[in-house]
Amino acid sequence: MFDGISEQANDLVSLAQSHSISSSKTKIITITSGKGGVGKSTLTSNIAYLLAKQGKKVAIFDADMGLANLQVLFDIKPKFSFYDYLDGNCEIEDILSDTGVLNISLIAGKSGYQYASTRANMLFSNLVSKIVALDRFDILLIDTGAGLSSSVQEFLELTDNIVALTTTDPSALTDVYALLKMISLKKQRLFLCFNYTEKYETGEIITQSLRKLALKNELNRKFMVQYIGNVSEQRGIAISGRLRKLFTKELEKEQPTKQLQLVVNNLLELID
Ligand SMILES: Nc1ncnc2c1ncn2[C@@H]1O[C@H](COP(=O)(O)OP(=O)(O)OP(=O)(O)O)[C@@H](O)[C@H]1O
Ligand SMILES: [Mg+2]
Repeated sequence: MFDGISEQANDLVSLAQSHSISSSKTKIITITSGKGGVGKSTLTSNIAYLLAKQGKKVAIFDADMGLANLQVLFDIKPKFSFYDYLDGNCEIEDILSDTGVLNISLIAGKSGYQYASTRANMLFSNLVSKIVALDRFDILLIDTGAGLSSSVQEFLELTDNIVALTTTDPSALTDVYALLKMISLKKQRLFLCFNYTEKYETGEIITQSLRKLALKNELNRKFMVQYIGNVSEQRGIAISGRLRKLFTKELEKEQPTKQLQLVVNNLLELID
């Protein structure tokens, strides 16, 4: 009986959340990957920069549980992480950290912190709804950890704007297909972006193969995989990261920045 009641309560919370999410100007984009280390945090922070450069107010949620990479990339030491808010130690305003980059705020995580998973159920989505309800940001980018953990799945539930990032590496493609399969159970579409990929057409061809595989395996027939672009491998990207700088700023005129700008343009056209 209690299970029934708590299920109903969950439904009500979801309903309230979807209302606050749909009535706010803030659009959520979640960046995820099957395999780790494919460049999620690097591309998320640089997508934020390109969006901010065109005047959008952006927040990035560091949702890689137990690791807090984005504050390292922005070279800042936030006073509060979102766990402090969840633990009742600060106000929601306190977790919107200034990154030092105009128009970009960071909702920081905390390294080496394990949030009890039973307590965490729905807490992250509640928190995201509250940030969205502030109506202060045009875009909220969520950088998830790799893989298909329950917390990653909770973040994927929140939006239809999900970007799966992959490389052309066979193991990354196997993992991105597993992700695609899981997402197709609940969503009608997925955006696919290729990192470490020189040619735009390569990503397009592989996307087509993944679509064929999905058809062959009879995944959700309405499910669409939309290719949104590629970013080449370039040593300068890794170097910028090591120096805690944004490559789109440091390598403004170079190919990877132009490629990522195209990804951003496609996203702005496609997201809802
Ligand atoms: N296109 C690229 N060319 C060269 N180096 C890259 C490129 N993209 C990312 N890197 C480098 O690859 C490394 C991993 O990137 P990043 O940390 O962004 O991956 P991630 O997907 O967020 O990893 P994790 O799954 O651990 O969160 C970093 O050192 C980054 O600088
Ligand atoms: Mg990362």
